Amino acid sequence: MTTSEVSAPIADRIRAALPRRAFRVLALGVAHLVPAAVAALLLAVVRGRDAARSCAYRRLTALLVRLGPTFIKAGQVLGTRRDVLPPALCDELSSLQDSAAPMDLVQTRRALVEAYGTAHPPDFARIDHRPVAAGSVACVYRGELRTGEVVALKLRRPDVARTMTEDLALVRRGAGIVARLPVFRGLPVVEVVGSMSDAVLGQLDFVRESENLRRLRENLSVVPRVWVPKVHVEQSRPRCIVMEFVPDLDAQAAQRCSPAARRRFAASGLAAIYQMIFVDGFVHCDMHPGNLYFTASSQVVVLDAGFSVRLSERLRRLFAEFFMNMSTGNGDKCAEIVVRSAAGTGPEADLDGFLRRMSDLVRRSHGLPARDFSLIAFAGEMFDLQRRFGVHAAPELIFPLLSLLVIEGTIRDLDPGMDFQEAAKPILMRGLFGAK
Ligand SMILES: Nc1ncnc2c1ncn2[C@@H]1O[C@H](COP(=O)(O)OP(=O)(O)O)[C@@H](O)[C@H]1O
Ligand SMILES: [Mg+2]
Repeated sequence: MTTSEVSAPIADRIRAALPRRAFRVLALGVAHLVPAAVAALLLAVVRGRDAARSCAYRRLTALLVRLGPTFIKAGQVLGTRRDVLPPALCDELSSLQDSAAPMDLVQTRRALVEAYGTAHPPDFARIDHRPVAAGSVACVYRGELRTGEVVALKLRRPDVARTMTEDLALVRRGAGIVARLPVFRGLPVVEVVGSMSDAVLGQLDFVRESENLRRLRENLSVVPRVWVPKVHVEQSRPRCIVMEFVPDLDAQAAQRCSPAARRRFAASGLAAIYQMIFVDGFVHCDMHPGNLYFTASSQVVVLDAGFSVRLSERLRRLFAEFFMNMSTGNGDKCAEIVVRSAAGTGPEADLDGFLRRMSDLVRRSHGLPARDFSLIAFAGEMFDLQRRFGVHAAPELIFPLLSLLVIEGTIRDLDPGMDFQEAAKPILMRGLFGAK
C-alpha cells in the first residue's frame, strides 16, 4: 500500500496530518542533530574522522528511537542495506530493537474487535490478555482454540496502519528534498527510501504474511530440525494471524547448549537459508535474532515471514551458479555471472575492469581458511566494485544476498569454524541439478 493507493478520504486525512507530524519530526531532528553535528566536529578535530562518524551514527540511531515505531522499523530495514550505506552505519542501525510497549487490556479488546468484530471470537476457548511479545506493528498472544490446540495470535495494533502510512508519506517527501542536496547527488536516495517504505508497509499485510509462512513451512519441511509454525487459516483474519504456538522461545537458549548442539543449530540455520535461496527461490529476508530461535529440543524456529522475496527462476539459477563457482574458486565465471545478472550498466561503466577485479576478489576469497572468510566483507568489496565500475545489481538479487549477510553473524557466533562455502555445496547440487 502506498499513499497513492489509499482511498481519497484517508489520503486527505494523511495530507491534513502531515504538517503537524512534520513539525514534530523536524523539531526532534534539529534538537538531536545539531548537538550531534557539534559533537562530531569536535571529535573529528580531537580523535579523527572515524570517531566523529561513529558518534554521528550513534546519535542518528538514538533519534530514530525517539521518533517512534515507524522510524525504528525503517532504521532496521535500512540497516540491512550494506549495498548502499556505510558498514559502520549498518552496524549501528542493526542494534535497533523493536521494543514497543505491550497493548493494555483496552487496546487488546479494541484490536480484537477490529479483527473479529467481537472481543470474544467464538473459535477461541481462551485468549491470554497479556501478550507474550510486543512489536511496533502487532502484539503476540497465547490462546487456545475450542479444539484444544494452543495457538499464538499475532494481533495488529489499532491505528497502526494510519500512523505508519502518515509517517512514511512524510519520509518519502523528506527523501525527495534531501535527494536534491549536492552531498547526496548520485546516491539512490529515493529508490532506497521507496523500497524501505514498501518493506515497512508490507509488514501490515497479514494476509500476505500468513501465505508466506505457509509457503515457507512447506518449503522448509525438507530441512531437518527446522520448524516454521503452522498457520490456522480458518481462524486467521486480515488483522490477526493465528498459528501454532511454539513454547519456551528464548533468545539465549543456544548459549546454554553444548558446542556440538550449537554447531548443529548453525548447520540447520544455514541449510534453511541456502534451501530458500538456491532451491526454492523464495526467501525470508528478515532472519535477525528476533525471528530465528533455537530450542532446547534442538529445533531451529523460523518466524515472521512478513518480509519475503520471490526470485525469478533465472535469477535463482544465476545465484546458485555464482555460489557454486565461488566455492570452486572460479573467479572468471563468477564475474561473468554478476554482469549477466545485472539490471544494467552505468554510462561510464568499465566492464573489463570490473571483470578483472571481481575475478580477483573471488580467487582471493577462495584461498582464505574458512574461519577467515566473511560474507559481509566479501559482499562489501563486491558492492564497492559494482559502484566503482558502474555495474548495477538486479534489485531482486540484493535482498536475498542481504538476508545471508544478516544471518552470518548468528551462524558465526554458534560455530566460529563454519565453512560457508563447503556447507552450500550439497544444497547447490540440489538447486542446480536435482529434481525440485
Ligand atoms: N507462533 C509463535 N509461538 C510463540 N511465540 C511466538 C510465535 N510467533 C511469534 N512469537 C513471539 O512473538 C515475537 C514477535 O513475533 P513476530 O512475528 O516476529 O512479530 P514482529 O513482526 O513484531 O517482529 C517473536 O519474537 C516471538 O517471541
Ligand atoms: Mg519479528
